[in-house]
Amino acid sequence: MLVLGIETSCDETGVAVYDSDRGLLAHTLYSQVKLHADYGGVVPELASRDHIRKILPLLDEVLESAGVLKQDLDGIAYTAGPGLMGALMVGGAMATALGFALDIPVVGVHHMEAHLLAPMLENNPPDFPFVALLVSGGHTQLVSVASIGDYELLGESLDDAAGEAFDKTAKMLDLDYPGGPVLAKLAEQGEIERFTFPRPMTDRPGLDFSFSGLKTFTRNLIDKHRGNDVLPDDQTIADICAGFQEAVVDTLVIKCKRAAIASGIKTLVIAGGVSANTRLRHKLEVVLKEEGVEVFYARHEFCTDNGAMIAYAGCQRLLAGQSNPLSISATPRWPLDQLSQPSSTDVLKESI
Ligand code: KG4
Ligand code: ZN
Repeated sequence: MLVLGIETSCDETGVAVYDSDRGLLAHTLYSQVKLHADYGGVVPELASRDHIRKILPLLDEVLESAGVLKQDLDGIAYTAGPGLMGALMVGGAMATALGFALDIPVVGVHHMEAHLLAPMLENNPPDFPFVALLVSGGHTQLVSVASIGDYELLGESLDDAAGEAFDKTAKMLDLDYPGGPVLAKLAEQGEIERFTFPRPMTDRPGLDFSFSGLKTFTRNLIDKHRGNDVLPDDQTIADICAGFQEAVVDTLVIKCKRAAIASGIKTLVIAGGVSANTRLRHKLEVVLKEEGVEVFYARHEFCTDNGAMIAYAGCQRLLAGQSNPLSISATPRWPLDQLSQPSSTDVLKESI
């Protein structure tokens, strides 16, 4: 089955073509980072308008590099939520119109389910069941995954998401937007031991997270080292980045280890933008190996938002016979554990 995937939930326009027999044929991505940089965060109305400008040229580009025609497509998948309403509507409208014109099924995909399945695009994909750590700009969740659509939420952030904590801390340090990867890069030059940040909620049982306290800790630290209203010196900033990153990584690692031991599941998947963080990948691999748990993640470009993961997730649901009526589905808030399994799991197994 040849499926077109469209991602427009936030500030990245991603389009991809996935074939259930041949794998990923092509994908392309346009990032709006520069557009939002002056504002220090995503401006929803600007995001929607830019998706409109970019989506058709990207569609032509991806079909050409996949070597297929629109008429060859068997189905279309688009991100139906969670995300920004206007941005979601652009991808939804495009997918629905195209599905109507080509008379092929269209399916609305859950953005976090797509992140969670992104490692399936790699050569050595994980087997079900697994525990997934979803760490993005809007979500921090530990999920027990029995199969596609069979999700049990084990724990989540009670306040800021891990990516949000990275971005807010970067903003306090006047780093470029989006802050997460910039902060991570600076942390490489910093001394981890110089400042000891708290590891929130690790001293009590449970699998929930809280990252907002780290913000306050960082703000106080910056104020302490600030002179005449200017930011601390470059080395101190790098040391703050290193200490902060280590605290977030340790907190995530402790909870992942706890979830793996409690569930007895020997496979852990990390997904979402923060799973691109090399320190997180490294520490998780080292610590979980001691417990006999193997860690899986997608290549860097499929950790952050992209069309390939939408095409893959949508293809699995389309293969099982699932599709949406020809009306645009956009659900800005959509809990992952409200999803259900696609109807025919036998068809699904064959395709993986
Ligand atoms: O999954 P994603 O692309 O978009 C959402 O669905 O939210 O995740 C974006 C988040 C941002 O908060 C970004 O700062 C963070 O992922 N991020 C990182 C890294 N790369 C992206 N955070 C820490 N280290 C990184 N290397
Ligand atoms: Zn995302």
